[in-house]
Amino acid sequence: MTSRSSEDLDTLEHKALATLAACTTPAALETWRIAYLGRKGAVPTLLRRVKELPVAERRTVGERGNQLRRELEEAYEKKKSQLQPDVGDVHLPPTHYSLQPQPGHLHPITLATRRLQAIMAALGFRIVEGPEVEQEYFDFDALNISLEHPARAETDTFYVSPRHPHGQGLVLRTSTSAVQVRSVLADNLIPPFKITSPGRVFRNEKPDPTHESSFHQIEALMVGQRVTIADYRAVTETLFSTFFNRPVTIRLRPGYFPFVEPGFEVDMSCVFCQGGCRICQQSGWLEMGGAGMVHPNVLQNMNIDAQKFQGFAFGYGIDRLVMLQHNIPDIRLFWSGDLRFLRQFS
Ligand code: FA5
Repeated sequence: MTSRSSEDLDTLEHKALATLAACTTPAALETWRIAYLGRKGAVPTLLRRVKELPVAERRTVGERGNQLRRELEEAYEKKKSQLQPDVGDVHLPPTHYSLQPQPGHLHPITLATRRLQAIMAALGFRIVEGPEVEQEYFDFDALNISLEHPARAETDTFYVSPRHPHGQGLVLRTSTSAVQVRSVLADNLIPPFKITSPGRVFRNEKPDPTHESSFHQIEALMVGQRVTIADYRAVTETLFSTFFNRPVTIRLRPGYFPFVEPGFEVDMSCVFCQGGCRICQQSGWLEMGGAGMVHPNVLQNMNIDAQKFQGFAFGYGIDRLVMLQHNIPDIRLFWSGDLRFLRQFS
């Protein structure tokens, strides 16, 4: 360093400020910082060499050097803040939803199942459960469904192991009717009794907007000395009216199920219109499921005297109920895993 140090400082200042002004990216700014203010940068190097100057110059050049360093540090900070993207007010809570905790919630089928259970429980029905992997006996034989019945074909029913020639294998249960004989025997129920069982069932079906290969049903069974179709009607109308929160009536059409006699297909008055709309296909009625008076053979399989007792049973599709409740156009949405759909029920 020479006595021209003051001039050197002026040149340095000029060059530093000019190159700083030319920085347009954070990377360029960092290179500038290293060049001028870094440990081996121009300004610290100059300050380290002040002690080599003649004594007379040390003080002025030292002071001037420190002043330049402060000036460049300030200019650097200012430039840095200009080059940073605007992050807004960092004290505000995050607005981007992925930064917010997402609390979980129950699936719409679970919510509906709980609601149906509560209504049935209030009507005096005890909630019972059965396994999803079921013995063929309870899914078919006990329900008066013979070995040759087409519903037992592998094209209709999922077998857990290859189909047993005498029907003693395991299936994924095809309806919640499988819990009827199982529960009565397991719990040693003696009439009068009322049980209900919601749950998941499986059928070898090609999914479409109204059919799934895995769906949900709610079953009910009421047995006593004087249980009639009028009891059935009262229970079902109360169940649907409470579930849909409006008065509904039901209509029974003859239907065949091997485990009931007589058997019915059950329709509910449309909850969307007064006589005809798109959802009820202008009929004023919506199909809800099957029902009937328990077949004497099934009562026998429950060790119940069919001469003395009678009862009704019904089975309704829960997924279809929820589709009506929320006007959901496609049953496959339930298991699509699409959070935009599921979040609507939180
Ligand atoms: C039965 O499953 C009988 N066990 C119902 C029953 C119980 C009748 C007691 C008599 C006495 P069905 O196969 O019709 O019946 O099914 C009943 C309901 O389950 C249907 O009305 C429908 O709401 C629903 N369901 C049937 N198949 C499917 C499917 N693939 N996808 C979605 N829901 C279905």
